Amino acid sequence: MDKTLNIGVIGLGMGRRHAESVQETPNARVTWVCDTDEKKLEETAAELNVPNRCTDYRDMLNDETLDAVIIASPDGLHRQMIVDALAAKKHILCEKPLALTREDIEAIVEAVHNSDRVFMVGQICRYTPGFYEAKKRIDAGEIGELTFIESEYAHDYTHILVGNTWRCDPLRNGVVGGACHAVDLLRWISGENPEKITAYSTHKTFADLTPYDDTHVAIMKFPNNIIGKVFASISCRRDYTMRSVFYGTKGTIITDNTSPTMTVFHLNGDGASSTPETVELDINNHNTTGEFAEFFDCVVNGTPVRTTVEEGANTIAACLAIVQSANTDQTVVPQYFA
Ligand SMILES: NC(=O)c1ccc[n+]([C@@H]2O[C@H](COP(=O)([O-])OP(=O)(O)OC[C@H]3O[C@@H](n4cnc5c(N)ncnc54)[C@H](O)[C@@H]3O)[C@@H](O)[C@H]2O)c1
Repeated sequence: MDKTLNIGVIGLGMGRRHAESVQETPNARVTWVCDTDEKKLEETAAELNVPNRCTDYRDMLNDETLDAVIIASPDGLHRQMIVDALAAKKHILCEKPLALTREDIEAIVEAVHNSDRVFMVGQICRYTPGFYEAKKRIDAGEIGELTFIESEYAHDYTHILVGNTWRCDPLRNGVVGGACHAVDLLRWISGENPEKITAYSTHKTFADLTPYDDTHVAIMKFPNNIIGKVFASISCRRDYTMRSVFYGTKGTIITDNTSPTMTVFHLNGDGASSTPETVELDINNHNTTGEFAEFFDCVVNGTPVRTTVEEGANTIAACLAIVQSANTDQTVVPQYFA
């Protein structure tokens, strides 16, 4: 396609970052922004020099010159917006989590399968420098076969929850809404879906604030004899991070999304661990520019999408299994999408 890609952005919280990334990309521009908050809408449109604005996203979908939309609205709204945007023949980059319920996920998967448009789910950790570097080294065999992989979503939501009612929706708990990042990371790093999940949860810190438990730990059994663990807390008393450790038969990688370095342990000639290697990294835990560059490539050059609708759906299937296991005190076998 030898033309500029016209993009609409729906929801201007995280969507504002997406809009800025689009404006930085050659041959792409934001031609519409949408938000129900009119003040935010006016300010964003003016600051980013966007010609069209609306409070009802369906107005932008009627514009035949609009090629694609970035959906960054509250999670429970993703389903209807996806269905409507595909019906209007728009390509879509949709924020994680794909949706909050199995019913919504099934409807989204069906709508995407019945469409010829590009659909990408925004699993941003796959563009985070530390995680990207770890994945490259693991796939190259640098730490041998994976044995145990762990990640965490440690994010104190004390301020985020103030006045943010959609994040207090019982369906939008810290696992599906937040720790989908850590679950997706383990799925991507291992290249597998966890077969069985056992989880526990507590509700001590936010007992009066959230209608769902605020801290979960999940143990997962992956194929190829890999064990996984996710720690998910929206009430932890510390700075935000996603500390992750990937243990292999020949080495170990320790990394996160908030530090300027990662640590890699290799084997010495005698079979023991050597002095660790320190790898310098950019800190970029919301690499929307890298993510949009890939979306652009998929739309314009037909490059296959990596974070497909099934990837987004299966990450949420595993998250729903974590919540179910913690709530029922049972091991759960997640139900995946082909
Ligand atoms: N990739 C990441 O790391 C990351 C980080 C934060 C949020 N998110 C995801 O991005 C999405 C938005 O989260 P956020 O943090 O920006 O939330 P937010 O509450 O800060 O912003 C959401 C915006 O959507 C607007 N909105 C609400 N209903 C709307 C509607 N019907 N039409 C248009 N706009 C509407 C709100 O007015 C608000 O401005 C969620 O899906 C969230 O899970 C992803």
